[in-house]
Amino acid sequence: MYLVRTIRLIMKNQQIVLVRRPEGMASPDDFSLKTVDMPDIEEGQILVKNEYLSLDPAMRGWMNEGTTYMPGVQIGSVMRGFGAGKIVASKHDDYPEGSYITGLFGVQEYAVSDGKGTTLIDQINEPLSYHLGILGMPGMTAYFGLLEKGQPEAGQTVFVSGAAGVVGSTVGQIAKIKGCTVVGTAGSKEKCRYLIEECGFDAAINYKEEDLEASIKAACPDGVDVFYDNVGGPMLDTMLKNLARGARVVICGAISQYNKSEIYGPKNYMKIVTARGYITGIIVFDYINQYPKAVKEMSQWIAEGKLKTKEHVVDGIEHFPAALQMLFKGQNFGKLSLKI
Ligand SMILES: NC(=O)c1ccc[n+]([C@@H]2O[C@H](COP(=O)([O-])OP(=O)(O)OC[C@H]3O[C@@H](n4cnc5c(N)ncnc54)[C@H](OP(=O)(O)O)[C@@H]3O)[C@@H](O)[C@H]2O)c1
Repeated sequence: MYLVRTIRLIMKNQQIVLVRRPEGMASPDDFSLKTVDMPDIEEGQILVKNEYLSLDPAMRGWMNEGTTYMPGVQIGSVMRGFGAGKIVASKHDDYPEGSYITGLFGVQEYAVSDGKGTTLIDQINEPLSYHLGILGMPGMTAYFGLLEKGQPEAGQTVFVSGAAGVVGSTVGQIAKIKGCTVVGTAGSKEKCRYLIEECGFDAAINYKEEDLEASIKAACPDGVDVFYDNVGGPMLDTMLKNLARGARVVICGAISQYNKSEIYGPKNYMKIVTARGYITGIIVFDYINQYPKAVKEMSQWIAEGKLKTKEHVVDGIEHFPAALQMLFKGQNFGKLSLKI
């Protein structure tokens, strides 16, 4: 007991703290790297050593004041974020020491949790980092957003924006598994090649170089049945011009708008009327009770080689501010995370 306490006193915890609300893109000055004492745990709590920290576009919204589907992170608090790691101490019967776990542990090396909202990883068949990506929150977003909200049918056309990211590439591959024609947008030739050659997309449009409207029409001559939107803004507007009758537009995200103080709204929304379609939104946390079913099915698809993923790992918690910017500059190629 004495030894454990002594080790705890010697060991420190590194944290990324939000010190200022960003204007526009978050900058390194909005954060501070703090070194604090290791936390102690009480009855009913666990101590997790994070091995990977997830970088997600939603983090930008969490830095704003006010509440959306979650309250904004308080100034002076540890930045909110998902982590995947190992339980290194436990005073909770349901969470044994040595188990692997994911949860909203914050951007820090060690986190104390009471287990609420966490997911224990039953078997480590895949790399741990997959549980922040394709088998974690973004993968669940793709699965439930496409299947529950988009309701794709075999033979239909699914179009996904931001397609080379973890959500987009997973949406496209699941749509292929369901027998759809799949088209996506991405911001480089290399990303477009990856979508076609590795992920099995039927076509990919480099939105930075091609005429978007003409390319969408050429790739989807009968219109789009499911538009899964990760980008928003003018791209959403352009897409609305090419909907098939009965189209479903799933608003998953709008990364093109997250750094703006005024959001671009769709001008072409009347196209929903002529298409007799609908626009709907998804918040992945609404499906938390169904995650195990999706993880099981997706793990099977991964094992069968039907579902692939790409990861982009940056070393070191101190690189969090720069790594976060990569998402908004299109510099990540695959699921972005920090290894710590
Ligand atoms: N609703 C939910 O519950 C939920 C949950 C998770 C994620 N999401 C949303 O899903 C989307 C994708 O997330 P992810 O984790 O898979 O991220 P990601 O796609 O891996 O990374 C972000 C990518 O977005 C693209 N991008 C950045 N700025 C852009 C712009 N102005 N215009 C067009 N593309 C831009 C970049 O790719 P390019 O090189 O192609 O530009 C960048 O690499 C985000 O909108 C996120 O907020 C929603």
